[in-house]
Amino acid sequence: MNYSRRPGIDSVALSSLAARENETFLSTHRESARLAEASAAHWLNGVPMHWMRDWNTPHPLFVKRARGVEVEDVDGNTYVDFCFGDTGAMFGHSPPAIARALAATGADGITAMLPAERAPRVGEKLANLFGLPFWQMTQTATDANRAALRWARAVTGRARILCFDGCYHGTVDETMVRALPEMKDKGGTRPRAGLIGLNHDVSAATDAVPFNDAAALERILARGRTAAVIAEPVMTNIGMVLPEEGFLRKLRELTRRHGALLIIDETHTLSSARGGYARAADLQPDIWVCGKAIAGGMPCAVFGFTAEVEAGMRRVQQDRAGGHSGMGTTLSGNALALACLEASLDELMTPANYQAMHDTASYLSEGLGRLFATRSLTWHVSRVGARLEFGFGKPPRTGAESEREAWPELEHAIHLYLLNRGMLLTPFHNMMLCSPATSSAHADRLLAALRDCLREIGSQ
Ligand SMILES: Cc1ncc(COP(=O)(O)O)c(C=O)c1O
Repeated sequence: MNYSRRPGIDSVALSSLAARENETFLSTHRESARLAEASAAHWLNGVPMHWMRDWNTPHPLFVKRARGVEVEDVDGNTYVDFCFGDTGAMFGHSPPAIARALAATGADGITAMLPAERAPRVGEKLANLFGLPFWQMTQTATDANRAALRWARAVTGRARILCFDGCYHGTVDETMVRALPEMKDKGGTRPRAGLIGLNHDVSAATDAVPFNDAAALERILARGRTAAVIAEPVMTNIGMVLPEEGFLRKLRELTRRHGALLIIDETHTLSSARGGYARAADLQPDIWVCGKAIAGGMPCAVFGFTAEVEAGMRRVQQDRAGGHSGMGTTLSGNALALACLEASLDELMTPANYQAMHDTASYLSEGLGRLFATRSLTWHVSRVGARLEFGFGKPPRTGAESEREAWPELEHAIHLYLLNRGMLLTPFHNMMLCSPATSSAHADRLLAALRDCLREIGSQ
């Protein structure tokens, strides 16, 4: 891609802005630089988890504390956070309800390999809010998705799964695939580029088709070999791709008709509405997955399922020979996570919090739209409740279309420009979240900084 040929942005101005912002970062983050050097002695890539280097800063930014909408770094710089730990802190950093649950439960036993007293109550609350009768807990959404896929294969007795091209459902091997363009109608996949340390072909039992392509979906499902389709209702991990009118209904109808389970992963689209996107859209998934923000940022994920799936699971358990199931980790369902989950269900996922998040996100989305129009940029803004994203072209229909719009140099420069002016965007594409603590004043600040940035790098 020759980015300099794209309209609206002056590539020379973009390069010099990026170089200047790098220098600014270095001169205002000296303590972070010192910690980065010290950390490099013992952490891979100088950070506790290697993807913490995905922020395109010259060295990692070290955080002192984060509360509500604000993050403070070790140099005393403060930021309005629109990233919120890539959704884990969507309801704000350290919400008081979660801090209270941590303090109260932390002193009374964290993990015992036994259900805590509150378990029946929390199960009932999950069922009431999300509309599925049966539940399980894991530590991460990745693990919940892994378990959901295993159960789906066991319950249906089918080997294959289907996902949408460009999806991300965590580090779940069998979804780490891309569709082969020449196999569009046949569902063929290849492993994603860059995967580390694999010893098997993760694409062997996975089909993938473009999002919003009901005809391709039907062709694969009609073979009768698919155990489950796993999908976000809105793709959020390759830019944001909204479902076209009727597509999700068709997805539900086709999975039912062809005997495949529908797994809806709402780890990111919990932003949509109280009870999630699937509930609001009456999508009726067979299995529903959510992690990250579900317990206010504490490591916790859940998957819920229908009575039919539960009956299938019990059948599988009765029929099997015993031994390891291959699912579950020791700390799953621990008392601390369960307490935070309950606090989150009671005090974070409230109608008032959703209203506040959506109002601000809507305000920001409209402001962005006006800003791009004023500058004659044919960029788009997509929103799913409290989550929004802008992209450098028209709204994409598929993951591949969204990917073609990406412009990494521009993204990185904008992100660094904003960071140097006290605002954090997620390092991947241009995603922004509005927490209940995010106000229109915070949105105005972001809009003003972005306007100044575009003035500097715009070609008109
Ligand atoms: C839609 C979706 N599902 C699952 C996951 C995995 O979450 P985790 O990394 O917490 O396991 C992610 C992570 O970004 C995600 O975006």
